[in-house]
Amino acid sequence: MYFGGDYNPEQWPEEVWDEDVRLMREARVNLVSVGIFAWARLQPDEGEFDFAWLDRLLDKLHDGGVAVDLATATASPPAWLVHRYPDVLPVTATGTVLGPGSRQHFAPTSPDYRRLAAELATALGRRYADHPAVVMWHVNNEYACHVHADYSEHAARAFRTWLAGRYGDIDALNAAWGTAFWSQHYRGFDEVRPPRASPTTQNPSMVLDWRRFTSDSLLDLYRMERDALRAAGATQPVTTNFMGAFPFLDYWSWAREVDVVSHDGYPDPRDPQAHRHAAFAADLMRSLKPDRPWLLMEQAPNAVQWRPNNAAKAPGQMAAWSEQAAARGAAGILYFQWRQSRSGAEKFHSAMLPHSGKRSRTWKEIAALGAALEGRETAAPPPGEVAIVFDWENRWALDQPDLPADIDYQAEAFAWYAALHERHVQVSFVRAAHDLSGFRLVIAPALYLLTEEGAASLKRYVDNGGVLVTTAFTDIVDEHDRFRPGGYSTRLADLLGGRPVDFFGVLPEEGRIARGSGTEFAVTTMIEDFDLDGGRVLARTLGGEPALISNRFGAGTSLHLACFTDRAGIGGVLEQALATAGVRPVADGLDPAVEAVATGRGITLINQSADPVPVKTTDGTFTLAPYATWHLPSEQEDHHA
Ligand code: GLA
Repeated sequence: MYFGGDYNPEQWPEEVWDEDVRLMREARVNLVSVGIFAWARLQPDEGEFDFAWLDRLLDKLHDGGVAVDLATATASPPAWLVHRYPDVLPVTATGTVLGPGSRQHFAPTSPDYRRLAAELATALGRRYADHPAVVMWHVNNEYACHVHADYSEHAARAFRTWLAGRYGDIDALNAAWGTAFWSQHYRGFDEVRPPRASPTTQNPSMVLDWRRFTSDSLLDLYRMERDALRAAGATQPVTTNFMGAFPFLDYWSWAREVDVVSHDGYPDPRDPQAHRHAAFAADLMRSLKPDRPWLLMEQAPNAVQWRPNNAAKAPGQMAAWSEQAAARGAAGILYFQWRQSRSGAEKFHSAMLPHSGKRSRTWKEIAALGAALEGRETAAPPPGEVAIVFDWENRWALDQPDLPADIDYQAEAFAWYAALHERHVQVSFVRAAHDLSGFRLVIAPALYLLTEEGAASLKRYVDNGGVLVTTAFTDIVDEHDRFRPGGYSTRLADLLGGRPVDFFGVLPEEGRIARGSGTEFAVTTMIEDFDLDGGRVLARTLGGEPALISNRFGAGTSLHLACFTDRAGIGGVLEQALATAGVRPVADGLDPAVEAVATGRGITLINQSADPVPVKTTDGTFTLAPYATWHLPSEQEDHHA
């Protein structure tokens, strides 16, 4: 296991470095990410590099037994660069140029930014490819975390090129975007602009492509740096830090381009669901590259500084969240950052080594966790029997206005995940087009945008005996956000046992419920006018509308919720689905506050609450202390929990 964090020694006088390395050893730190924001220090001017300090630092770390994840340092362009090439700056949808003085002030498609970033990555690669401390490369940092999209003229040009590559000729684009509507027809790609501020709703097909382009153009920038490192001789794994279910990048496509998935997670300690959000992110990261361990590249050692009011992590909570990541396949537990900053926007952000040093609770908990993880083998969690379809393109289509009701895709996916988590069921994330044959149950919440490949895959899965759960607003549009000829659910109607013919919004204060086959659940957000064709109605609204429909299809079963429901309602539908699919939890009879993970070497139980929780085993009952972790090796797994 790796243990460590971001290390920004350029913010400190060199005398402090020896103490850093000594204390890193004491905390069992064995990996630090160096240089993420050090561009100005590494390159004082164009064509001029200063690597002497980094040479000394890397040697010192290596002598101290600390390995390095070396950054390409391109996340914050230096002042000289912006001064000389002001058009590297990104532009918002309303035309505001985002200036320097913070970070991430670059347009990903700016030729000067790209040239200079590639030069820096090349220079670093040449110098450190063979340095024994360097075990990994860290390209840029949290792409798009502040600048979700750049609307500059550079971006406009690149968007046109991207569109020409996708559509070949402008009439294909006109057809895909339905530009006959509101007189939006284009005669050539040169007439297309980014979806900048506009009087009202933009063409949703255009916005969908814009979001694809934004993710792709940043990925292209990442690839450029990665390839520069490789061309310079670097052979170590290359990564860049993801941010869980971050809305703006399609991490399915990004995951193919990184050697190791790494993740930055900052759940809010005040949120009672925080550990479930963290588990969701951990399982998503694992699922992006299921055959490789991932890294928890950043988490806060204690409080952050960037919320309006920043809660502490409860004593033990940081360790509990770290054990969660480790159980869910993380090969490293790392933090932002090693030593607390003396100045700058993050000077109040917690650090492994706070200003109060070893007297602090934070340090003590860090050092204790470092010792606990030392020598630990990385877990290899099995995928489990249940998969949730999670798809960024679908999210981008659903994020747009002017639907029958606003749908929060992330919240829907999370609600299903959370219901499984509290029932101790192991989950993977997939796209609809993936091979689903290994799962007993697949849940596809609000899969509004369904590709032909996705539809074929879901049908194959159910036909071969799988159980599929869908909700309202499934299979509504094609990959261009257009209705297919024939209206709604044209691809899945025979699988669902009918299809929606209309959609109506539902508000919570309407208090609508549905009942049937022993269940009762709230109808929320939207209800379909569902036209039955072979399906069996399991629950109806009080007005008699079908709300839950089951259908046999081939050797399998579909359960279609023709509305949305709340967490309790999801729980009820899920119980039926789990029973139909014959899915087993990781452990039986556990309190929902206890997290249970099959790790491939046994079961890890983590008490994610501030109260002690009794745990029953065949040998009796024991108490799991607040935030405590218990590892049950696999030889015992069959007889216990
Ligand atoms: C992000 C960044 C870090 C730091 C932390 C603070 O994860 O990658 O550089 O700003 O947030 O929480």
